[in-house]
Amino acid sequence: MSFVMEKKLPGDNIIQVVGLVKIYYLDGVEVPAIRGMDFEIKRGEFVSISGPSGSGKSTLMHLIGCLDRPTSGKVFIEGKDVSSLHDNELAMFRNRKIGFIFQSFNLLPRATALKNVELPLIYKGIPAKERRKRAEEVLESVGLGDRMHHLPSQLSGGQQQRVAIARALAPDPAVILADEPTGNLDTASGSEILRILKELHRESRTIVLVTHEEYVARQAERIIKLRDGLIVGDEKITMRSDEG
Ligand SMILES: Nc1ncnc2c1ncn2[C@@H]1O[C@H](COP(=O)(O)OP(=O)(O)OP(=O)(O)O)[C@@H](O)[C@H]1O
Ligand SMILES: [Mg+2]
Repeated sequence: MSFVMEKKLPGDNIIQVVGLVKIYYLDGVEVPAIRGMDFEIKRGEFVSISGPSGSGKSTLMHLIGCLDRPTSGKVFIEGKDVSSLHDNELAMFRNRKIGFIFQSFNLLPRATALKNVELPLIYKGIPAKERRKRAEEVLESVGLGDRMHHLPSQLSGGQQQRVAIARALAPDPAVILADEPTGNLDTASGSEILRILKELHRESRTIVLVTHEEYVARQAERIIKLRDGLIVGDEKITMRSDEG
């Protein structure tokens, strides 16, 4: 229903960043984290944001993800200027449009996998039965059909991250934002998470993957490289690093 009211940008950019600046103020000292960025991400793209520690990756993800506001410049999501939204509207917009995956999983420790995945659907006001069905479906799609009633502490790291992916996917977000999703995982579990992200991309999801690891970044089809709060590269990947 609400999609009728939302304007689409020409070229179907799902994310547009214009003149973006973010300065933190710490004990009266300015810490510039993003010093002027412009770029677009199209619907269905799989983009990595890479760069060394402190280059502004997480800050950028927070701004794109409507978790924080820019000092100046704008972020448009599906053509909507998110800086024009009030706090409540911003939170609602975020819940509807963005699915987050974090390095540290951020699952509720006392809730089962199923409950963790159902939670964003509760916020969306989806009825209990439907929400249960949807949560089961997405957990099955990430290979956790037999782990739904486990608590996070009863799951491996890779399994916990797959619950987090299911939770991000459940409300059918416009964009999936993943900040170092393999950072806490061993190589095999990390590869499994990257495989799932690539599969989601094949299913036409839009994915933004933040990482400082070159190998992980190269799993996407495009890499935006940051350094010191600026974009220093924006390249298409022609051959995925796992394909030869
Ligand atoms: N809340 C904050 N207050 C003050 N400075 C901050 C804050 N958050 C980040 N910074 C600074 O902003 C810059 C960018 O930080 P950011 O967390 O975006 O880097 P990053 O690229 O994600 O690094 P990492 O790879 O280590 O996660 C850094 O210099 C950091 O110290
Ligand atoms: Mg970071």
